[in-house]
Amino acid sequence: MKRAKILVLPGDGIGPEVVRATLPILEKVASAGGIRCDVTEALAGGCSIDQHGIPLTDEVLRQAKKVDAVMLGAVGGPAWDQLPHETRPERALLGLRSGLKLFANLRPAQIIPALLAASTLKAEVVEGIDLLVVRELTGGIYFGKPRGVKTIGSGDKMEKKGYNTEVYQTSEIVRIARVAFEAARLRKKKVTSVDKANILESSILWREVVAGVAKDYPDVQLENMYVDNCAMQLVRNPRQFDVIVTTNLFGDILSDEAAMLTGSIGMLPSASLGIKKNRFGCAQGMYEPVHGSAPDITGKGLANPLATILSAAMLLRYSLGLEAGAQRIEAVVSQVLAQGYRTADLGGAEGQRLSTDEMAKRVLEAV
Ligand code: IPM
Ligand code: MG
Repeated sequence: MKRAKILVLPGDGIGPEVVRATLPILEKVASAGGIRCDVTEALAGGCSIDQHGIPLTDEVLRQAKKVDAVMLGAVGGPAWDQLPHETRPERALLGLRSGLKLFANLRPAQIIPALLAASTLKAEVVEGIDLLVVRELTGGIYFGKPRGVKTIGSGDKMEKKGYNTEVYQTSEIVRIARVAFEAARLRKKKVTSVDKANILESSILWREVVAGVAKDYPDVQLENMYVDNCAMQLVRNPRQFDVIVTTNLFGDILSDEAAMLTGSIGMLPSASLGIKKNRFGCAQGMYEPVHGSAPDITGKGLANPLATILSAAMLLRYSLGLEAGAQRIEAVVSQVLAQGYRTADLGGAEGQRLSTDEMAKRVLEAV
């Protein structure tokens, strides 16, 4: 059997609950595909602040660089909300993203038929949604320099100035565009590139470079859309989208909007893929649910493990090359929901409402 090295960062809040419920499923499906998972666990986020004073230690980043894939629960919580922004739990995510060069963030949003009624939008609008947001994750205004807050002026004209920089260079746009076009090839063959090219120079370059990459993919249709229009189109007619490719900040916003179309953020997985190839010839990646640490329900068995379970499916697909295993997990999740089983966030009839572990067990038994 081949062996895969997986680093697990359960994090804070419900993170540890959903990750521990998911691991046996990941291990079972990987092993059916001929891969044994060697799992090690480490601290990231608030729990690391408590232990080491910082959200991500060099040692954990070093460990992360050596594995085939990282599985993360969630970070953050009220206990650490008062900390200055450089030491908050969320910095662990940014440190992992830049440290592992995870430039491509994939956030699929798919309506599961059994959950149609869970969306706040009308069923006829959201029915059949199946889109993928490809968000650039290591550039743009999140990392651009100069950045900061400084004091300007003097005397009674003194005031503060806060500033950040949106910056993209050709090579960064090329590589994220390629991820989007490759993904579209395996889907409905349409890429919508989202920018603000009517205002921003960085977006003008973005649009130009994406059009250049598109020439290598004549079988995929490219459409350009301004970000404000895209925000509107997502709630007006989300079925028009297949793959959306966009910048770090726009992708942050649009992926939350896309997530909500499907009704429950508790269902959505994500993959962040790096430049580096792992021992399987696949992208080294980090996999995590889109939802946060949900401190209000921590430790009560109420958390929905399905987003993390679906993230494990993405791990099998993108970092271990086990497409069949990924599909197996996705099919079983749909099946369990079709049978009426629900976690608390999804509602559900008396007797079919399951705890975190019970839901994970249903999936584990059926995969
Ligand atoms: C996300 C989150 C993060 C981001 C925060 C927690 C740093 O909102 O993954 O979308 O802004 O990227
Ligand atoms: Mg976000």
